[in-house]
Amino acid sequence: MTTTVITGIGELVTNDPGREGLLGLVHDAALVVEGGRIAWVGPAAEAPEADVQVDAGGRAVIPGFVDSHSHLVFAGDRSAEFEARMTGQPYTAGGIRTTVARTRAASDEQLTSHVARLVAEMRAQGTTTLEIKSGYGLSVHDEARSLAVARQFTEETTFLGAHVVPADTSAEAYVDLVTGPMLAAAAPHARWIDVFCEDGAFDVDQARTILAAGSASGLRGRLHANQLTYGGGVQLACELGLVAVDHCTFLSPLDVESLRDSRTIATLLPGVEFSTRQPYPDARGLLDAGVRIALASDCNPGSCFTSSMALCIALAVREMRMSPAEALHAATAMGAAALDRDDVGVLAPGKAADLVLLDAPSYVHLAYRPGVPLVAGVWQAGRPTLG
Ligand code: NIG
Ligand code: FE
Repeated sequence: MTTTVITGIGELVTNDPGREGLLGLVHDAALVVEGGRIAWVGPAAEAPEADVQVDAGGRAVIPGFVDSHSHLVFAGDRSAEFEARMTGQPYTAGGIRTTVARTRAASDEQLTSHVARLVAEMRAQGTTTLEIKSGYGLSVHDEARSLAVARQFTEETTFLGAHVVPADTSAEAYVDLVTGPMLAAAAPHARWIDVFCEDGAFDVDQARTILAAGSASGLRGRLHANQLTYGGGVQLACELGLVAVDHCTFLSPLDVESLRDSRTIATLLPGVEFSTRQPYPDARGLLDAGVRIALASDCNPGSCFTSSMALCIALAVREMRMSPAEALHAATAMGAAALDRDDVGVLAPGKAADLVLLDAPSYVHLAYRPGVPLVAGVWQAGRPTLG
């Protein structure tokens, strides 16, 4: 098996808990890749011989980003809705239905090539693991095919039939459909089930019913909660012991306590607040309370159409008072934890060789140089996919 040594790494972020600090930094480092996995990590001066040698030239290497929340399977454009929002209109859950009509009208080939383009866009910006949700089909056929399309790109697929109630259907009838025939058609293509628990979407009781049905079909639960209003979604997620609850923008003191007392990760999506002009979630307060936080893009055509994890890091640092180290950790190791994955997000022997070479001497530049493309190279399972 060919081995590759990447040497001359000025600053290596390992996220290895066995090393010092949150990020497990190693300076003047090298790492060896063999068969898609990391074989060795340490000081460059001690690096073993390998078949191929790559010189990082003193630049920083970080684990590939783990984007645990995206909605890439859609068609159509909602830039006019964004423009209206920037001139005073509020964001509402109802905009989702616009995308549903366009998505249903698109062919499988159109949806696939659109997702491929967005995944390539993410990869070029350093994302090496991503989750993709359905949720713009809202019929048995369109949810199942959305997930089949997503599965071509990732194992981390999420059935979000419970995104909104489609037009001309009662909420009761739709919950029956989601928990019955739609779930049966979706489950073979999905690992996770999600519900948009919010005013204008699904309430806590409906979310509970839908998550229970998903669990009975072998899907693991996650939740969109407390994005637009206060509500019971976060507490439901904690009560059920879900791996992650996403958004967490409007939290009561009781919500924070529930998160603190659970293992549930709060996945914050600051691109949404940026793109909807909402207040940002209180990341600092959550971290200080001992809550585990991940960062993700929520890339979708309505509330946030960015695929850039670097932007999310910059926003988390500038607007949510996370330190640059906390933000990078949340966008890598914690993203992996939010997908219950222990093979990615960490650069240590045996882990996936998913890594990013930055055109910068330090990871801090991700927040220090907002909006600047800093990704000089991406390795996915040990293979260079960029640079
Ligand atoms: O995560 N909150 C629900 N779903 C998406 C937005 C979907 C849309 O507006 O199309 C979100 O923000
Ligand atoms: Fe979302």
